[in-house]
Amino acid sequence: MGFHTFDADRAARLDDPTRFEHCSVEELFGALAVDETATIADLGSGTGLYTSPLAAGVGHVYAVDVQPAMHDHYREAGVPANVGLVTADITGLPFAADALDGAVSTFTFHEFASPDALAECRRVLAPGARLVLVDWSAAGTGEGGPPTDERYDAADATGLLADADFTVPASTERRDTFTITARVPDRQGQN
Ligand SMILES: C[S@@+](CC[C@H](N)C(=O)[O-])C[C@H]1O[C@@H](n2cnc3c(N)ncnc32)[C@H](O)[C@@H]1O
Repeated sequence: MGFHTFDADRAARLDDPTRFEHCSVEELFGALAVDETATIADLGSGTGLYTSPLAAGVGHVYAVDVQPAMHDHYREAGVPANVGLVTADITGLPFAADALDGAVSTFTFHEFASPDALAECRRVLAPGARLVLVDWSAAGTGEGGPPTDERYDAADATGLLADADFTVPASTERRDTFTITARVPDRQGQN
């Protein structure tokens, strides 16, 4: 399904550091469980608020966004040397199968969620790799973020991930957001 794409004219609002109160970089790292050599993607990277601190702890980050204007905004702020800006829709990622050691997506799942997008995430993630999703929850108050009828709750998101052949070892609902850790089965089909 997926709902409207965040307006690039409002990109500056994404740079507000108080947004880390909803999800810290430490939380993303803890859920991703990758080492400093890992190649990961930030799916729907926007202005790079999360991308740059993630880049400080891994080998390479692909910052994937469908809107070139978001990358322009990120370039103006400064892009770390180990971040590659990729203009692409998540339904058609320009990566080889199994290319990524992990991926995150913050506050974007409601904009891209579809069986095709999750199948594409599954294709590019290596066996055993994790996909960490943090987004506004349909079970939340609606005081911040998109309208609640444009969101998913953790149960709906987990169902979509299971349909795409991910396992979901961890899922947390908070007041307004969910955090889901999904995982690609390893080569032996173990979860
Ligand atoms: C609400 S912003 C969040 C940006 C960033 N993740 C953050 O937390 O600051 C959502 C971003 O996802 C991008 N986006 C939405 N749908 C997408 C898709 N199908 N493929 C790639 N990027 C997408 C939008 O262009 C926008 O920059």
